[in-house]
Amino acid sequence: MSVSTSYSGTALSIQHVTKAFGPKANGLGRSWLRWRRSGSNGSGDAKRVIAVDDVSLEIRRHEIFGILGPNGSGKSTLIRLTATLLVPDEGAIQVFGLDVTRDEMAVKRLINRVSVDAAFFKKLSAIENLMYAGRLYGLPGKEARQQSFEILHRLGLKDKEILGPLEDMSRGMQQKVAIARAFLSQPTLLLLDEPTTGLDPRSKREVQAFVRELRETHDATILLTTHDMHEAEALCDRIAILDEGRIVALDTPAGLRKLVPQQNGDPATLEDVFMALTGKQLIKEEDRMTA
Ligand SMILES: Nc1ncnc2c1ncn2[C@@H]1O[C@H](COP(=O)(O)OP(=O)(O)O)[C@@H](O)[C@H]1O
Ligand SMILES: [Mg+2]
Repeated sequence: MSVSTSYSGTALSIQHVTKAFGPKANGLGRSWLRWRRSGSNGSGDAKRVIAVDDVSLEIRRHEIFGILGPNGSGKSTLIRLTATLLVPDEGAIQVFGLDVTRDEMAVKRLINRVSVDAAFFKKLSAIENLMYAGRLYGLPGKEARQQSFEILHRLGLKDKEILGPLEDMSRGMQQKVAIARAFLSQPTLLLLDEPTTGLDPRSKREVQAFVRELRETHDATILLTTHDMHEAEALCDRIAILDEGRIVALDTPAGLRKLVPQQNGDPATLEDVFMALTGKQLIKEEDRMTA
């Protein structure tokens, strides 16, 4: 029996996790870090950044959980901490009851991460890249090939694209291939870091439908990050809104909308919620071009 099936309740538990980058504060503690971050520039040039600041959350098995936040709010850092690629400065993270620091190897087998900067053999085709990954995951060649084609077709890719060099593909299409690769390993906890950023609306919807389908067919738990509130609402059972490394709200989409009073009878959007909680816009004007 695998660890995942013997553990039924919580898929991911994050407890009081803090992660900072930059020069150490010489034991002056987090209040000093906050002071530094709040604009006082101290004496040095390099600034210490608290990317994730005392974050706690629990994700239930089979849940699609979204982390919604603007650029630089700490979403990727949180994903990388969960994926054992970074070590928390403070706090603890458990994946299906296993500690990410103590049981790193076991945790690695239960998770899979898709990021926008996915690494590929760019001269090889999508199908070759996926079959290579399938082999790493221990899938027999024939099965890997069949599953790869199935997934790539499902994501709307044509045979001509699947068989051509990856470097000829648009970024959006490469992103689809990255997601397809993660689905090959049938991971128990799938970490999707901005899975639809850079995709056109139609591809976005295809990927979103596929994520929902995957939860049903593979009994997956999915943690995804996004700065697209429509995506968060459409896809997620619950959403944590992150701002400057801190969770400012955590609830179902409907619960979050209730935080803001309706205006002229129109229901609030997550953008309204974010604005009400932080006084800021979710997507800054300069980020809109790339969103
Ligand atoms: N490896 C790193 N070294 C230094 N600073 C980093 C590093 N990774 C992230 N940061 C900083 O931490 C903050 C959060 O970044 P990130 O987690 O990438 O946010 P998001 O994914 O929400 O855009 C940002 O201020 C970013 O510049
Ligand atoms: Mg990011």
